[in-house]
Amino acid sequence: MPSPPDDREVPPDSHRVFFALWPDDATRSAISRATRDVVSASAGRPIAKDRLHLTVAFLGSLTGAGVEVARQVPPISVGEFDLVLDTLGIWPESRILWLAPSDPPETLSDLEAQLWEALIERGFHGEDRIYRPHVTLARRARPIEATVAPIAWRVRDLALVESFPDGRNVHYEVLERWPL
Ligand code: 2AM
Repeated sequence: MPSPPDDREVPPDSHRVFFALWPDDATRSAISRATRDVVSASAGRPIAKDRLHLTVAFLGSLTGAGVEVARQVPPISVGEFDLVLDTLGIWPESRILWLAPSDPPETLSDLEAQLWEALIERGFHGEDRIYRPHVTLARRARPIEATVAPIAWRVRDLALVESFPDGRNVHYEVLERWPL
């Protein structure tokens, strides 16, 4: 019997993966608490607390072999660093409500640059866009003006994360983490 059509079906051996900073529980809770009201006011679709993250390098869809190549890239030993999430904004084109550091530490730029350098050496295609580190809080948000009390985040590791379709949403699984 033919299987029913499923528009969420993904090709076999296709893995949507990215390197990210994955907050510890306390930071996750702090982000969620500090932004709850603004997320509601934006009328957007909130990102659940356990999915909050900051992408460092988005790799797109890879084969299992590709994931293994990416997995060989870290560690990237730039050292632990502090990130202060203190700015909210909405990108009108994507209607993403985001939280970001107004003054990203140089160590984060070094991490992103060193990661891409190593990925490109292994045949991955780099980003054309300027890197704008952010934590997505909601999608389909409407424009709002808001401020947030700064959230200090001690970043200790880098994660490789896979995203899986989950109904109208996605869920994320951390494949591996490396100390910075
Ligand atoms: P976003 O939250 O701003 O959409 C998993 O999808 C993560 O990878 C999200 O943090 C997402 O950023 C980011 N991402 C998705 N597509 C991307 C792309 N084409 N380039 C860069 N980052 C992307």
